Amino acid sequence: MHSKTLKVGLLGCGNIGSKVAKELLTGKIPSLEFKRALVRDTKKDRGLPSEYLTSQPEDIFDDKDIDIVIEVMSGDNPVLEYALKSLNNKKHLVTANKELIAKHGPIIFETAYKNQVQVKLDATVCGGIPVINTLLDSLKANEIQEAVGILNGTTNYILSQMESGKDFNNALKDAQLKGYAEPDPTNDLEGYDTKYKISILASLCFQQFFAPDKLACDGIKNISSADFHFAHKWNFAIKLLGIARRVNNKVAVGVYPALISNKDPLSQINDVLNAVQIKGHLINELLLVGPGAGPAPTTSAILGDAISITRQKPSDYYVPFTGNGSIDNFCEENSYKFYIRLRVGDQKGVVAEIGNILANNDVSLNSIDQEAHSDNRDWEEEGEATLTLLTHQVTEAKFKKTVNQLKESKIIKKICCVLRVFE
Ligand SMILES: NC(=O)c1ccc[n+]([C@@H]2O[C@H](COP(=O)([O-])OP(=O)(O)OC[C@H]3O[C@@H](n4cnc5c(N)ncnc54)[C@H](OP(=O)(O)O)[C@@H]3O)[C@@H](O)[C@H]2O)c1
Repeated sequence: MHSKTLKVGLLGCGNIGSKVAKELLTGKIPSLEFKRALVRDTKKDRGLPSEYLTSQPEDIFDDKDIDIVIEVMSGDNPVLEYALKSLNNKKHLVTANKELIAKHGPIIFETAYKNQVQVKLDATVCGGIPVINTLLDSLKANEIQEAVGILNGTTNYILSQMESGKDFNNALKDAQLKGYAEPDPTNDLEGYDTKYKISILASLCFQQFFAPDKLACDGIKNISSADFHFAHKWNFAIKLLGIARRVNNKVAVGVYPALISNKDPLSQINDVLNAVQIKGHLINELLLVGPGAGPAPTTSAILGDAISITRQKPSDYYVPFTGNGSIDNFCEENSYKFYIRLRVGDQKGVVAEIGNILANNDVSLNSIDQEAHSDNRDWEEEGEATLTLLTHQVTEAKFKKTVNQLKESKIIKKICCVLRVFE
């Protein structure tokens, strides 16, 4: 057990790093002392005395005085190199960087274990929600069946605004004005941010590495006001979910916008809030809800991790997942109910043809809804109608085949949106 105060060096001192540094400088955590932070521009004002800043990375990872490196830069280049140098120099690592852990978790954990230092990562998924430490500590005795989350505040804010009537472009503009969405929102809208987070959760839940580039990932750009119109009719909300679940003896991991019944607590998680639902054989079902980002909640997770390092001894250290597991993350046996919104010619025989294609693929219909064209809607052309279908449970493999056949049909003008139903 450490009895001395541990010295902290920061890699990065932006939104998150400067909040961490200021908290440390209050002196309210006696077991931690802030030594120095790496930045690109030492002249930029960040509300910290300039003697704490350096632009030389060696001042952090080669400084023998520093015991804990807190990494709050972003991306993996040059961060991976700096993180590995820190670990090889026997420094513990606390990181908030989901991309770093999702892409390079195995090498980072193995290097740490070899050097008998720790890696803590609670801030990488859902900022202030202690989901990673809950999985690694409190739920350790469980065999995890499923982890599902609303893991990205920006897309949840946009979908919540669309739920209350805004169209996609106005909801995005609103998110940018409030500072929730970046000027280039690609990472959030395409689901990449959620993909990194569910990759980390899946790897921790199932103790094998689920590399993010192998995961199925759909963003929210195809969702329109029309989908909210039909979702309301069937009492569903629409949320972007990261899903990791056991299916038979395999694991299915992916990112999908999905319909969720209005009765499901996840459907009530709105605006920038995040939530993670975990199912385990002892706990049954657990829902963690809270702020997923922002300097204060993220600093709470980072400093909680740094304090826990001061209390643990080397015999407590372990590798949470490695790259050696069998990876089968594109799981065609996984089943969902599916929603499809189609634009069709307003003519006879459409429903019969669609029914035939579904029946030929052994897909049975739960509900079907057709609305005649109305001039005050912008989601179809004159002479067309919108048809929405809800299937019963069907495997991903069968559904994919069905959609391909629907695409070939001449009476279907466009398959506008396909959503899974999460239940
Ligand atoms: N923002 C959130 O709410 C939040 C929540 C959870 C997790 N995170 C994660 O926390 C990390 C940091 O996020 P942030 O919002 O604080 O980012 P940020 O404001 O852009 O800060 C990044 C910091 O890293 C420094 N930096 C970047 N590249 C560098 C390089 N090559 N050499 C030296 N210094 C470099 C920057 O220096 P300069 O200041 O001189 O440019 C800056 O101080 C990211 O991995 C992010 O995903 C963020």
